Amino acid sequence: MELDHVNIATPDAEALAGVFADLFGLQIVKRTEVADQGVRVVKLSAGDVVIEMTSPTAADTPIGRFLAKNRPGLHHVCFRVGDLRSKVAELKAKGVRLVNEEPTIGAAGLPIVFIHPKSCGGVLVELQETPPRE
Ligand code: CO
Repeated sequence: MELDHVNIATPDAEALAGVFADLFGLQIVKRTEVADQGVRVVKLSAGDVVIEMTSPTAADTPIGRFLAKNRPGLHHVCFRVGDLRSKVAELKAKGVRLVNEEPTIGAAGLPIVFIHPKSCGGVLVELQETPPRE
């Protein structure tokens, strides 16, 4: 599977994106706010992979609660899959625990599920149904 993006939780997405742009020569490609998730996202291009810096717009949001419990850093990694439902069925057959089995629509407008960190060594893994790259 190909990696689509790496998501980092930080109190200040703009500031951290600036650090990565400066240190590693990455381009900021998108700034967005997802109101229903309460996040501000700054995306940097790193080859075929995007690095998303995500900060909460309020304390009572998923990323706000994450940062209240954890230090800033890796929040999740996201792999691209062709057929999300068949991948979910395959993982369930292997005993993998999912956060949501029924796909929801993610920030990119594509169907996603999350695999529970307990099944991946503490790492939250997102699977995104993504058309193949051109
Ligand atoms: Co993601």
